Amino acid sequence: MHLHKYEKIWLTFGIGSLVVFLLILGYGAFWKGTHPQSHGVTIDPNNIQAYEDFKPENLGLTKVDDNQYVVNLIASAFNYDFGKDDDGAPVKHIRIPAGSNVLFQVTTPDVVHGFNVAGTNVNMMVEPGYISQLETVLKKPGIYTIVCNEYCGVGHHMMYATLEVYE
Ligand code: CUA
Repeated sequence: MHLHKYEKIWLTFGIGSLVVFLLILGYGAFWKGTHPQSHGVTIDPNNIQAYEDFKPENLGLTKVDDNQYVVNLIASAFNYDFGKDDDGAPVKHIRIPAGSNVLFQVTTPDVVHGFNVAGTNVNMMVEPGYISQLETVLKKPGIYTIVCNEYCGVGHHMMYATLEVYE
C-alpha cells in the first residue's frame, strides 16, 4: 500500500492528537483525581432533615478540626439556608480563615440551583435528590459573593450570600 506524503502527515497528526488527549485525560483522572463533582451521594429531597448534616442545627459553618471546616447549606427557591445565628436571624455571611480546608455540602428540596463562590473554583450544580460536595482551600483573603448560576425561577437573582476569607 502506498501512502501519500500528506496522508502520512495527517495520520500522524491525528493519532498524535488522540494520544495527547488520552494522556491529558488519564493525567487528570488518575494522578490529579479530577472526577465529576457528584459521586452520586443521594438524599430524599422530601425529607432532607432526616440527613444529619442538613438538620437545622448543623447548617452553616462548623469547625471540625484545626484548619478544617464544613459548610452545610440548603439551596431552595429562592434562598440559601446557612441556618440561624445566635440571635435567630438567618446567616447570610460566612467567615473562614484563609488557607483552611473547607468542605461544602449543598442540597435542595425543589429544583436545580447553582452554588458558585464567584472568583474561586467553587462552582457546583445542586440537584434535588443529590448532595453536591466540594472540598477546597480558599487562600486569597477577600469578600466573595455566592450566587446561584442555574436559572431556577422568578426569584433566581435573589439567591445570594457572602463568604469572607480573612487572614
Ligand atoms: Cu437558585 Cu437560580
